[in-house]
Amino acid sequence: MNLLAVVGSPRKGKSTDTLVDKAIEGFRARAGDSCVRKIYLMDYDIKFCRNCLACRESKTEGPIAACAIRDDMEQLKEAVLDSDVLIFGTPVHMGYATAVMMTFLERICWTFGKPGRKVFTVTGCPLPRTGRKRKAAIIVTSGIVPPVYRRFCDWASKQIKGVVVDSLNAKVVGDLYAGDVEHRGVEHYLIKAYKLGEKLA
Ligand SMILES: Cc1cc2nc3c(=O)[nH]c(=O)nc-3n(C[C@H](O)[C@H](O)[C@H](O)COP(=O)(O)O)c2cc1C
Repeated sequence: MNLLAVVGSPRKGKSTDTLVDKAIEGFRARAGDSCVRKIYLMDYDIKFCRNCLACRESKTEGPIAACAIRDDMEQLKEAVLDSDVLIFGTPVHMGYATAVMMTFLERICWTFGKPGRKVFTVTGCPLPRTGRKRKAAIIVTSGIVPPVYRRFCDWASKQIKGVVVDSLNAKVVGDLYAGDVEHRGVEHYLIKAYKLGEKLA
């Protein structure tokens, strides 16, 4: 099994990164011999989507539609394509995923998804381009908002879930909202993160 962990925090070794590492540890303990790769989105050149729709309108039968932009997303998309298991980790920035995580997700949306799904009366919503099934877990950290108020401040989990399910054909096995880490400390959530990782195996 190939696990790809995608970290959308600008800070290495801090809350999000620590919890992602713990989830990887839990995964490794259960999954045994697996290939694990962690990427920090901030280390890559990821340009903004320009809404040219070359990807959405692509008629390719392949798993990834070509993008008009040339940057590091080409190698990152290959890494996503190779994955069976995904962990997405992001801090909450103003209620949402970080800008770099959002940029990454925007670039994934129609390259891995094609228009075809109908939701209520809306046609043309994303449908995964491949039948390859994946599993995913989402880890979101927030500085001051505790879990009891999560519904007022965590749109990041929903944003990630949408792309993970609709474009990457992944089942979300669980998510962790690590709220108020500024006061509780990240240690408060280590066991939950480990157990989340175990669920991915
Ligand atoms: C621009 C910005 C916006 C933020 N917005 C929120 C917020 O809306 N709610 C919150 O609880 N914390 C917010 N925070 C705090 C981060 O969520 C918190 O520091 C997080 O744990 C950082 O994760 P990291 O340690 O992985 O970098 C914000 C931080 C930044 C830099």
